[in-house]
Amino acid sequence: MAEVLILSQSTDKVERYKTLVPQIEALIAGETDVVANLSNIAAALRQSMNFFWVGFYLVKNNAGRQELVLGPFQGPIACTRIAFAKGVCGACWKEKKVMLVPNVDEFPGHIACSSDSKSEIVLPAFKNNEVALVLDVDSDQLNDFDKTDEHYLSQVMRLIEKFL
Ligand code: SME
Repeated sequence: MAEVLILSQSTDKVERYKTLVPQIEALIAGETDVVANLSNIAAALRQSMNFFWVGFYLVKNNAGRQELVLGPFQGPIACTRIAFAKGVCGACWKEKKVMLVPNVDEFPGHIACSSDSKSEIVLPAFKNNEVALVLDVDSDQLNDFDKTDEHYLSQVMRLIEKFL
């Protein structure tokens, strides 16, 4: 695996993602440990894209009930558990689709882990057709995510599904 992440100097996020995604693929090649891979992916995303907060919530059993539990992340400390259908992450899990939220204050039930978070994108990764985890990315700017982020972060989710 590559030990140095090459950072694009471009201010264009398409160029930054194009430099990043193949490196994520190389980073996880030959490693099967889920926590190790998610940790490096969170770090690579944060280093390359300068996200305010980026991390994973994993679907886990708790006394016979499933909930999202905080996994590897980069950024300020965050809420540890999210119930099914709650917040943007819980909605992504329930709806089984990408949630693009330009203004978190306008999303009913948004869970504010940080009052600095203004916009958000959450994407699901699947195992056996069920959501196994979500990737949550937060920005301290309004309207900071678009279809470009959805496109390239979806590629990352498909890479993640290979080791789930
Ligand atoms: N805002 C998320 C909660 C997770 S934190 O942003 C890290 C939500 O509404 O699900």
